[in-house]
Amino acid sequence: MSELPNDPRVDQAKASDEGLLDAHESALGKQHAPDGAKYRLLPIAILFTLSGLILFAGTYLNRYAGHYSARIFNENAKPSSGAPAAVKIDPVALGKTQFNAVCITCHQSTGLGIAGIYPPLAGSEWVNGPSARLIRIVLYGLKGQITVEGHAYGAAAMPVFGQVAGSAYNWNDEKVAAVLTYVRQEWGNKSGPVTADEVAAVHKAIGDRKEMSEAELEAVK
Ligand code: HEC
Repeated sequence: MSELPNDPRVDQAKASDEGLLDAHESALGKQHAPDGAKYRLLPIAILFTLSGLILFAGTYLNRYAGHYSARIFNENAKPSSGAPAAVKIDPVALGKTQFNAVCITCHQSTGLGIAGIYPPLAGSEWVNGPSARLIRIVLYGLKGQITVEGHAYGAAAMPVFGQVAGSAYNWNDEKVAAVLTYVRQEWGNKSGPVTADEVAAVHKAIGDRKEMSEAELEAVK
């Protein structure tokens, strides 16, 4: 069998390293692989399988995922007994929030007030005394001299908190009760809670007014 002049195998057999390098260089310099040659299409069977899976999963989730609602996915949920349970608000927690929002500026986080201006709530006979007096203080505010733990105050006024004309705060009876319940058990105070009903009763009996005085409070038992 005669050698064909253009048989590449013949060239290869004869080729030196340099010759090969030359051949590759010139071939690479001239020729570019077509752009598409680097990519291979996904085999059609896998493409169909994946599309089928995505279609199935999408349909399945749409039908059964319950829009990812926490109510549907709550594994501890009990079958409803009808009426929704009323949300219970912890009066001490609510009262603390209110105290920290407002009362704290004058009576301080320690409940000790500021000597000579803002009387203390910690250990105060007004805070730990009859709730009917305490309710009046916060509902209607306080003006004039008042003695707290043996010291006289009167340089400043205690604001009106209740829902009465001219009140800057307009707290409902529930909020007034909550803040009083809080101050009666904080800083070592150990007096019982004040209920919204108690506040409502005082509010209803007295109606609209402002600024109690020490003498008026002392008349309340
Ligand atoms: C702007 C300052 C200020 C704010 C805010 C304030 N108070 Fe007072 N409070 C006073 C002053 C001043 C007195 C004393 C009034 C007087 O001398 O007649 C007082 C007196 C009192 C008293 C009776 C005296 C005592 O120390 O026991 C109580 C109770 C009281 N405040 C509770 C509260 C509560 C609860 C809040 C928040 C809801 C509050 N105060 C917010 C200034 C303030």
